[in-house]
Amino acid sequence: MARSSLKVLVTGAAGQIGYAIVPMIARGVMLGPDQPVILHLLDIEPAAEALNGVKMELIDAAFPLLKGVIATTDPIEACMGVNIAVMVGGFPRKEGMERKDVMSKNVSIYKAQASALEKHAAEDCKVGKPLNSPVLVIANPANTNALILKEFAPSIPGKNITCLTRLDHNRALGQISESLDVQVCDVKNVIIWGNHSSTQYPDVNHATVQTSSGEKPVRELVSDDKWLNAEFITTVQQRGAAIIKARKLSSALSAASAACDHIRDWVLGTPEGTWVSMGVYSDGSYGIQPGLVYSFPVTCKKGKWSIVQGLKIDEFSRAKMDATAKELVEEKSLAYSCLN
Ligand code: NAD
Ligand code: LMR
Repeated sequence: MARSSLKVLVTGAAGQIGYAIVPMIARGVMLGPDQPVILHLLDIEPAAEALNGVKMELIDAAFPLLKGVIATTDPIEACMGVNIAVMVGGFPRKEGMERKDVMSKNVSIYKAQASALEKHAAEDCKVGKPLNSPVLVIANPANTNALILKEFAPSIPGKNITCLTRLDHNRALGQISESLDVQVCDVKNVIIWGNHSSTQYPDVNHATVQTSSGEKPVRELVSDDKWLNAEFITTVQQRGAAIIKARKLSSALSAASAACDHIRDWVLGTPEGTWVSMGVYSDGSYGIQPGLVYSFPVTCKKGKWSIVQGLKIDEFSRAKMDATAKELVEEKSLAYSCLN
């Protein structure tokens, strides 16, 4: 029997990430090669013409899995009956700006869109059936926007609302792969702890590489501890800024690809023995206070994510995990002060 289509909302669809991600979704990169989709594309009035151009191109691409496109500037029409929401809409950071600079503009958008999503998304988005209906926030400050969305959409279960740190996770895999000259698909189980910002902590203490003589810890293969404890961390933390400096625009193709990875693994499951990083509502794991959206290592099964438990945390990691949590506490209070 043919599968019924899933309605996927992409906000900010006329923007850079929007333009990169919609063909990926329509080709099955996000939900699999057998899953038909209907795209709900939202942007704001000044971008309406460009948004219509994106719709025209989607039609022209004749994607077999794409069963319909709604392109609109009306948040209610956009959110109507959606099963999956990818929230990209917002203002990006420009060269020289800190993420906090985009805070006040973007958190207000997330407060407003929380109520549209809460009132109009499909029932399964609200009650977590059958797919745990994912909501993924990409726009920065991603963790805090996700928190605001969660707090202003109380009927959407907290477990359904996440933010993107998979891009940072993939960046960490990429750096290890480059440094060891191994295939990126042979590296796994890095962790991004905390905020999608320059305080994030990319941790390789549990990461491994598949070699011809079995799985080996990254710490054993990379002899230069100094590189792992300093340059590797800052390269991953600063990669977004480096891309903005190089492109004069923030990352888009890698962000879109990471967003597809995030939703695919959440919905279809993580491979056995592998975890990924996702910004999720903290339940107090690893001493991170509840009430923050914090990036943890997670495994996913049957549309549900669970935080990987029991990893040993050394003093170096503890300090870095706490520093990024502290920034999230500060961002949360700044966000509320912007909303008041
Ligand atoms: P962009 O400016 O190219 O596109 C953003 C789009 O959002 C624009 O078309 C804009 O009109 C639209 N928009 C603004 N307000 C809106 C609203 N209220 N409702 C719907 N749409 C709205 O930006 P981009 O490069 O696509 O980046 C989008 C966001 O993603 C930025 O905040 C950026 O910082 C962030 N980002 C996050 C990550 C991550 O890993 N979490 C990575 C890259 C970029
Ligand atoms: C990225 O990580 O590439 C983006 O979040 C860049 C940014 O900070 O806007």
